[in-house]
Amino acid sequence: MAYTVPKLKSFTPAALDKAAEKLLAVLKEEAQGVTSEADRKAFRDRWIGRKNGVLTEINDLWLKAAPKDAKREVGQRVNELRAAVMATVENARTGVTIAPAPAVAKVGAVLGSVSVSLDITLPGIRRPLGSEHPVIKTMHEIVSVFRNLGYSVEEGPVIETDYYNFEALNFPPNHPARDTQDTLFIARQESKPQRDRLLLRTHTSPVQIRTMEKMKPPVRIVIPGKVHRNDPPDASHSPMFHQVEGLAVDANITFCDLKGTLDHAMKALFGSSVKTSFRPSFFPFTEPSAEMMVSCFICGGSGKRGPEPCRPCKQTGWIEILGCGMVDPNVYGFVDYDPKKVSGFAFGMGADRIAILKYGVDDIQLFFIGDVRFLEQFG
Ligand code: DAH
Repeated sequence: MAYTVPKLKSFTPAALDKAAEKLLAVLKEEAQGVTSEADRKAFRDRWIGRKNGVLTEINDLWLKAAPKDAKREVGQRVNELRAAVMATVENARTGVTIAPAPAVAKVGAVLGSVSVSLDITLPGIRRPLGSEHPVIKTMHEIVSVFRNLGYSVEEGPVIETDYYNFEALNFPPNHPARDTQDTLFIARQESKPQRDRLLLRTHTSPVQIRTMEKMKPPVRIVIPGKVHRNDPPDASHSPMFHQVEGLAVDANITFCDLKGTLDHAMKALFGSSVKTSFRPSFFPFTEPSAEMMVSCFICGGSGKRGPEPCRPCKQTGWIEILGCGMVDPNVYGFVDYDPKKVSGFAFGMGADRIAILKYGVDDIQLFFIGDVRFLEQFG
C-alpha cells in the first residue's frame, strides 16, 4: 500500500490531471487485487473509510487546501473522483463490473484511466423467492370457495370502534358476552363517548355492519382479516390471529341455506368425504346460533390413528370449526334493514386454526415468529 494522497504543490489543471490520473491508476490496481470478503472490506475502508479513507484525504489535502480561485475546479475534480471511487468500491462489493455512471465516464474520458465493463456471461445474483404464508394461503383458499358461490370480498379496519366491534353486533355496554372478547384498547379515549372509543377488533364481524350500512340486500360477502384478543400466547392461542367471516342476507334465507352452504364449503376445503354437524351455541348477533363441527379429516372420524389416539379431534372424531347462526333481528335495527322483509345467516372461522389442522402444525406461534426454516416448507 505504497500510495498515500500527496499534498498538492500546484492547483493548475495540468497538476490536477496528473494527481487524479495517479490516484485512479492506484484505485484500479487495488480493485483488481480484491479477491475475498476481507479484501473487499479493507479496500472499502481504505478508499471510503470516514476517518482516513482516500476520499477524506483528497477532500482535506486537495479541496480544503486549494486557494480560493482554484476551489471550483478542484471541487469538480474531487467530485468526479469521488464518483469513480464509489463506483469501483460498489463493483468490488457485488463482484460485477457495471457500466460507467456518467461521472465515471467523464473522468475516464478526461484521464483515460478507468475501464468499467459489464460481463454478461457471469451468472446473475439469485434472490431467494418468497412464498405465500400458510395462514394467508389458507385464507385465500377459504375465500375462493365462497367466491365460487358468488360471494364478494369485503375488508374493514383492524382498529375499530366500540360501536362496530360490540354495540351494533348486539353486545350492549357491560354485557357479559364482552368478557370473552377482551382486547387492547387505544389509550386516552376517556373523553369520547363509549361508542367511539377505539380498540383492536376482536373479530371480523364488525365488517358485517359496515357492509350492511353501505349496501342494500341482497348481500353475500366473505371477510378475511386480522383480529386481536387478550389471550396469552400458547400452542393454540395467539393475541393476534386471523378470521374469515361470511354473511348472506336476502329475502327468505333459512337455516337450511346456512347448513347447505357451509356443508358445501367444508367439502370443498377438506375433501368431499367430510361430514358436518351442528350444535346449539350462543353469539349475541345471531339467533339461533350454532357451532359447526366437521368429521375429523385426519382420522376419518374414528378418533384413532392406528393404535394411537387422534389428537387433533381429541378422539371424538369431530373438529369444531366455526361459529354461525341466523342474523339476529336486533342487528338489522342498527343498519336500517327491515327484519320483516329480510333474513340471513352469518359465520366466522379461525384461519390459523384451520391452517394448523390442514398442515399438521403443532404450535400456532410458529406462524408468527418468522423462522424461514418453518415457512420454507410451504413453498
Ligand atoms: N365473531 C365470532 C367470534 O369471533 C365468530 C362468529 C360466530 C361469527 C357466529 C359469525 C357468527 O358471523 O354468525 O367468536
